[in-house]
Amino acid sequence: MALQLPEFPWDSLADAKRVASEHPDGLIDLSVGSPVDPTPGILREALGDASNAHSYPQVWGTPRLRQAIIDWFARVRGVPGLTERAVMPSIGSKELIAGLALWLGLGPGDTVVIPEVAYPTYDVSARLVGASVHAGDDPASWPDSTRLVWLNSPSNPTGRVLGLEELRAAVARARELGAVLASDECYALLPWDVEDAPSVLDPRVTDGDVTGLLVVHSLSKQSSDAGYRTAFVAGDEQLVQRVVGVRKHLGLIPPAPVQAAMVAALDDDDHVAEQRERYRARRETLLTAVRGAGWSTESDAGLYIWAGNGEAAREQVHAFATLGILVAPGDFYGDDTRVRIALTATDAVIEQAAARLRANIA
Ligand SMILES: Cc1ncc(COP(=O)(O)O)c(C=O)c1O
Repeated sequence: MALQLPEFPWDSLADAKRVASEHPDGLIDLSVGSPVDPTPGILREALGDASNAHSYPQVWGTPRLRQAIIDWFARVRGVPGLTERAVMPSIGSKELIAGLALWLGLGPGDTVVIPEVAYPTYDVSARLVGASVHAGDDPASWPDSTRLVWLNSPSNPTGRVLGLEELRAAVARARELGAVLASDECYALLPWDVEDAPSVLDPRVTDGDVTGLLVVHSLSKQSSDAGYRTAFVAGDEQLVQRVVGVRKHLGLIPPAPVQAAMVAALDDDDHVAEQRERYRARRETLLTAVRGAGWSTESDAGLYIWAGNGEAAREQVHAFATLGILVAPGDFYGDDTRVRIALTATDAVIEQAAARLRANIA
């Protein structure tokens, strides 16, 4: 089977980046969601304290880390009662997302369902195993051959949040099809225009039965530690243990000092609240400026503004590039009428971007 992966999306932004770089006051890159704020001291200290790491770490995570994940789900996500066998850390969440279809044994003839407008790695997970992809948000449209369903709430790029009823409908349909349902909830702690972003493992969704369900969560954004690669999966014990079993063979293990840093991050809610307020302020500034410049916006939650002005996405990318601002075209995600603007720049840089947008309409 020849592996067919698409061009890496950001490679196609070279021209827009060149135009944006010619701006006299320099390039402002809002095309990727790469955190800029320092990693909090508690994580760095925990990482350093664990730097004597002569023995192999555990694929399944240290007992202390497993407990921290369990406690975090109960305290922060309204998901009580997870067991030790129902959680596992990963090396960031992207590798886990890309590999899941492979480890669950999917192959040609199987279908992976992904959101209509989606983070590209769900599609990659299907391509890696030669499975078909069905991009559809309506559970009624999911084909009989579906073996894995990806949800992403809050969504990258749209910021859309799935409510309890939508999650229940997705779970019911996945079970009817005998498919695994995996929910990527890595932006769940960045809600703006919604009260919260419920987990698919929430008892109001599952009625206490998590069979066939997995949640993927990442600390990259909420703990500003994308360079550490900290994420985890939780849910159906049997599925998690199947994944642990494969990963033992592959040696896919978060380094021991990183596992210690994850414990520190998961035990502390204060730094997450602080980080959230930074992003909230940046979003306010940028949202007002983007709207003022003629774009309509969506994004109830998460790290991006999803904006459109009626033109094709690449035209909009060019319009931003002439202001020295690089944004991502919606076609990266399956919608060529919008652009995605990341909130991951310092307060000063976000203010500069807003000023350029304001000056443009003045
Ligand atoms: C929806 C979504 N899932 C997963 C990831 C991967 O994050 P990480 O590998 O840092 O955990 C990203 C990163 O941007 C994302 O937007």
